[in-house]
Amino acid sequence: MTLAELDAHQQQSLAELQAAIEATAIEQVRVRYLGRNGLLPALMKQLKDVPVADRPEFGRRANAWRAALEAALTERQAAAAPRETVAPFDATLPGRWPTLGAMHPVSRIIEDVCRVFARLGFTVADGPDIETRFNNFTALNTPAHHPSLDATDTFWLGDDQLLRTQTSPVQIRVMTSRPPPVRIVTPGRCYRRDTTDATHSANFHQIEGLYVDTKPVSLADLKATLACFARETMGPSVGVRFRPHFFPFTEPSVEVDFSCHVCNGSGCRVCKQSGWIEIAGAGMVDPRVYRLVGYDADSVYGYAFGMGVERIAMIKYGITDIRLLYENDVRFLGQFA
Ligand code: PHE
Repeated sequence: MTLAELDAHQQQSLAELQAAIEATAIEQVRVRYLGRNGLLPALMKQLKDVPVADRPEFGRRANAWRAALEAALTERQAAAAPRETVAPFDATLPGRWPTLGAMHPVSRIIEDVCRVFARLGFTVADGPDIETRFNNFTALNTPAHHPSLDATDTFWLGDDQLLRTQTSPVQIRVMTSRPPPVRIVTPGRCYRRDTTDATHSANFHQIEGLYVDTKPVSLADLKATLACFARETMGPSVGVRFRPHFFPFTEPSVEVDFSCHVCNGSGCRVCKQSGWIEIAGAGMVDPRVYRLVGYDADSVYGYAFGMGVERIAMIKYGITDIRLLYENDVRFLGQFA
């Protein structure tokens, strides 16, 4: 490094500073020359390589450069144009509140229902969305010619595999894997080839319940359990009624109604003036199912029930269109916070 080169660097640095208008640009010049890894400190380290005769003069000029640059920097910094990106603080603007997440109503119903049944001794069981023909239909005593097996009703993934149309196959999974007693609830997704409208969706959720024991279990036990569940979820004055029905895997089978929680049974728009709202399908497990899962049909007793989660959410929260549950519009979901 010669004295001439040192002078050239000095000229260059002052020219760069002259060209820097904005505060950040000025700061960049300072860092480039005076910063810890800047040029001036680096040059000072090279002082030992300067010819001995030039050294005092080199040191003097370097110090003069530093002083000149620092003075110029202070002046430029004071005059620097204010940074346009920083808007002045406006204390009159409304505050920005952090938004809190809310649990999705479907998840919330699933949690609430499982919690109630947990208090009645039920544990939560799980099963896959992709099921076998055996678990979803055959072992549930559903004959091969039953219309629910049609490709127009069920999403088949091959001859033997399908997207489960109900949570009932989890009954089969549980009974084929352990001996009685079993007392489980099993929430999950189900799939049917339904055209979407205000009350139908090709993808929906059910919660299944199953209680099988080696001591007598009756339809009265089922009714008492569901009555308790009704009061816990819909309110203390809600009652339960059974209507005869048919399911291939329960005998007898019933449809379960809750008395309308809005009008208390006197008739309103929610219950379509009937005073009752359909909630679940249920019944005593058919002995043929016990035989198909390898239970001794003569010494076990049990009931099963299944209900639609979206349906319960819609009834409980007064939601009139099932599609609202899938659109994930935060204005809708935020109401459940
Ligand atoms: N799986 C039946 C359905 O989807 C409901 C049900 C479950 C009925 C358990 C009886 C027992 O309609």
